[in-house]
Amino acid sequence: MNDWQILSERIRGVQPSATLAVDSKAKAMKADGVDVIGFGAGEPNFPTPDYVVEAAAAACRDPKNHRYTPTAGLPELRHAIAQKTFRDSHVEVTDDQVVVTNGGKQAVYESMQILLDPGDEVIIPAPYWTTYPEAVRLAGGVPVTVFAGAERGFEPDIDAIEAARTERTKAIIVNSPANPTGAIWKAETIEAVGRWALDHHVWVVSDEIYEHLHYDGVQTTYIGAAVPQIREQLLVLNGVAKTYAMTGWRVGWMVAPEPVARAAAKLQGHLTSNVSNVSQRAALAAVEGSLDAVARMREAFDRRRRAIVAALNAVDGVTCPVPQGAFYAFADVRALLGRPVGPHDTPVETSAQLAALLLDEVHIAAVPGEAFGAPGYLRFSYALADDQLKEGMRRFARWVEQGR
Ligand SMILES: Cc1ncc(COP(=O)(O)O)c(C=O)c1O
Repeated sequence: MNDWQILSERIRGVQPSATLAVDSKAKAMKADGVDVIGFGAGEPNFPTPDYVVEAAAAACRDPKNHRYTPTAGLPELRHAIAQKTFRDSHVEVTDDQVVVTNGGKQAVYESMQILLDPGDEVIIPAPYWTTYPEAVRLAGGVPVTVFAGAERGFEPDIDAIEAARTERTKAIIVNSPANPTGAIWKAETIEAVGRWALDHHVWVVSDEIYEHLHYDGVQTTYIGAAVPQIREQLLVLNGVAKTYAMTGWRVGWMVAPEPVARAAAKLQGHLTSNVSNVSQRAALAAVEGSLDAVARMREAFDRRRRAIVAALNAVDGVTCPVPQGAFYAFADVRALLGRPVGPHDTPVETSAQLAALLLDEVHIAAVPGEAFGAPGYLRFSYALADDQLKEGMRRFARWVEQGR
């Protein structure tokens, strides 16, 4: 590449999404006829509920939906989201506080673009969803990670958060239930973070996209309900992807104080404009509908969660705490590193190398912890069929055993 062709520093500084990379490599291998078992994907393996698909099909046939909608979303959908926010997060909001985005991911991106000036810092509890630090960097901000390992249930210590605070701290990200760990933070932790943010004038970005995927009777604590005074500095991010098995429809949203919502709409007006009108109609059917479909998915996920955690812990050198939310098991594989593993006694130093070997040698796709600020771990999504899960775990265990 000639000098004049060099792309911007901004884009060169961004890491590609490691989760999408694993997923696309696994999909490419599958397309070549390889029997890959995909523990990489962050999407439910269920179809979108029929009534949602029907609403979209009807919307396609109605020419009014062949047009732009207002940038911030269909008024009916914004209203339904405001009501849903009250039902679930127990936070009363107006329709004007809602902005419909192209997936929860765009809501994350827009939040950072709106809140940050160059050099502003965002505290990101780690292990974190791989997109957060990149969204911060794309906005010129500085991600400041605060790590909490399996021994703490992947839950940050408020003292560690306070130790990471500087005069440039502008925001903190809260994600419970969490990707990649499946952790649901205790109510005390959520409250402590809320009070800390209030005391220090820090914005809170609460990503609640896994809110309805919880097990063992443990439910997440919504920070806006736990610390109501926080609402003037709270951005709630959410979407239909995980709750209604709608990853491909690309509908998410931000609920924020009105000036923030207006800013997000202004940005979106130059970025993508409105979300696909038909997808918004589908999301409207989903959000206005019942939570029955997610309750059924939850049962299946719960069964798989138990199966995968038991299977992972049965592998010598692997420890996996029991996740209480989302659909991920986050396994500590540090005991497998720094020595030869697998039937060919291949020396492996990092979880990234381990994940690559597993994909090449036994065709199982898991995402290395490096993608989540947690080297030494592997993330296994259990949003796959029961027999696949069983077969994948059999391959993993056998592969490790053969190495000894
Ligand atoms: C924590 C978290 N937030 C947000 C999203 C965004 O989802 P989407 O853009 O598909 O709505 C994801 C997807 O994996 C996620 O794991």
